[in-house]
Amino acid sequence: MKNIGSKPQLPLLLAALLLNTLSPASASAQTTTTSPKTTTHTPPVRVSLEQDNDWWKTAVFYEIYPRSFQDSNGDGIGDLNGITERLDYLKALGIDAIWISPMYPSPQVDFGYDISNYEDVDPQYGTLKDFDRLVAEAKKRNIRIVLDAVMNHTSDKHPWFIESSSSRTNPKQDWYVWVDGKGPDGKQPPNNWISEFGHSAWQWDPKRNQLYYHKFYIQQPDLNWRNPAVEKAMFDTLRFWMDRGVSGFRLDAIPTLFEDPQLRDAAPIGGTNAYGDPKLDPSLTDNLPEVHDVLKRMRKVINEYPGRMLIGETYLPNITELSKMYGPNHDELQLPMDMNLGITNKLDASIFRQKINEAETQLDANTALFVFDNHDNPRIAARYGDGVHDDAIEKMLATVLFTTKAAALMYYGDEIGMPTTPPTRVEDVKDPIGRTGWPKEKGRDGERTPMQWDASKDAGFSTANQTWLPAAPNYKTINVKAEQADPNSMLNWYKKLIALRKTNPALHSGNFTMLNPDDPNVLSYERASSSGKVVVACNFTAQPQKISLTGDSGRKAHILAASGGNQPATINLNEVELPPFGSIVAAVE
Ligand code: NOJ
Repeated sequence: MKNIGSKPQLPLLLAALLLNTLSPASASAQTTTTSPKTTTHTPPVRVSLEQDNDWWKTAVFYEIYPRSFQDSNGDGIGDLNGITERLDYLKALGIDAIWISPMYPSPQVDFGYDISNYEDVDPQYGTLKDFDRLVAEAKKRNIRIVLDAVMNHTSDKHPWFIESSSSRTNPKQDWYVWVDGKGPDGKQPPNNWISEFGHSAWQWDPKRNQLYYHKFYIQQPDLNWRNPAVEKAMFDTLRFWMDRGVSGFRLDAIPTLFEDPQLRDAAPIGGTNAYGDPKLDPSLTDNLPEVHDVLKRMRKVINEYPGRMLIGETYLPNITELSKMYGPNHDELQLPMDMNLGITNKLDASIFRQKINEAETQLDANTALFVFDNHDNPRIAARYGDGVHDDAIEKMLATVLFTTKAAALMYYGDEIGMPTTPPTRVEDVKDPIGRTGWPKEKGRDGERTPMQWDASKDAGFSTANQTWLPAAPNYKTINVKAEQADPNSMLNWYKKLIALRKTNPALHSGNFTMLNPDDPNVLSYERASSSGKVVVACNFTAQPQKISLTGDSGRKAHILAASGGNQPATINLNEVELPPFGSIVAAVE
């Protein structure tokens, strides 16, 4: 899918306290020929308790699709205890917080994004007790838990909807978006709005003799956010989870909470979607100004609890709209996702530079959140790879993700270079859009395959005879265990970059300056703090590039990390040589 579009807990004591300096081995360039100087002279970044509420500003978030991460009970479906089992792995990777895609009770039409109870855990994934244990065990490892808050819609099996659809007079009759039908039979949609998942966004309900609006699947009726009771009920669910220790929420499809009250027809913008529907101007159903009023009130709820934060799933047309999501007084979302950078699908240094510059200069000093991958889009190599240099391309993009000033969000399996494996037969498709849209739209199964832990049966994900989706065929070679043993693996590259981001003061929180602003091939920038400067250069082309870095030309730098090929331990910033899709991170001397 594309562009889918009580008691406050004390702050975690030393949540962002970083215990390890880089060992000489881990600070060396990945493929250097000589042993470079190390960064052991640089003190580790230590974050004081006062700063702790701002932990998210420099955080690395790791998205877990719970169905696919680790199955602990052999039923072929991942679960919460599975995540708990793998916390030591995540700690070693260096991430700060896990965002868990929905694990609430659900009929699983949209694999959890159709929620039938907001205050429990689906038995497939475990129990509330398992959840509490996960939070506690994660906390011991300084890992925070962020939940998915799906507020635009519920499942059609949610008691609220069952009640709302039972009559036109019940107490919840206006909790959803109901309208009278049109046409001779009185059952036709009131307008031409299209669901994100294909065909009319209106569904006839014979009990009420009315239609309801669904932005997504028919089984996901939209809540009526013009009703204050809906807002109150939803805000209470946030408190429920914050009371259990979660550190924040990723707000699903948050710009879509409101629709044009006059239900006017949307203007066609030319072309058709994968399901054959005309593409429509989204401005009557997406990003309406009322969303901001809700976000301001929601932020107040979050602020009742220290150190909590809101991430937004914010597919927006441009940086101006993204900027508004932070609120005029920094009083809405802390981290609306910047989808304009990582989901561009175009490997172009100039585009990346422009988007990073926009995030640097047009977000009113708010923190950007860069996202290169998630459960709704084919994985990184499928969108950016050229089939020849995929490993180098993925490593180079990881360099970008972890070395700018933005907070970083990664998707499980990115760190081992997991492939996208779409189904080859329509009868195997699990994600319903893959059946409606086949073969143009094969659905999102391809990016949701089981995590590849080792070369054993089911990739070490499960002991079941059959898992909900099969592991990708390459799991015998692309897996955590094999990559842990290979110093040049994707996994060790991710670990090295995340460790550098945490321990090198310039990379952790230094200022950002773009270098060589007109270079069409190499993206380069500098991070500078009072303890020193670090330069980053990324070759976005399949040709070797030789560049001179502006600002620091004439100076030398020692390589902290390098991908794509060999680098000497020390380089002259006048003559930086980068292999195809290679990248360097280097400390200026
Ligand atoms: C966005 C989620 O990321 C996607 O997986 C889901 O299908 C829709 N929102 C509807 O909740």
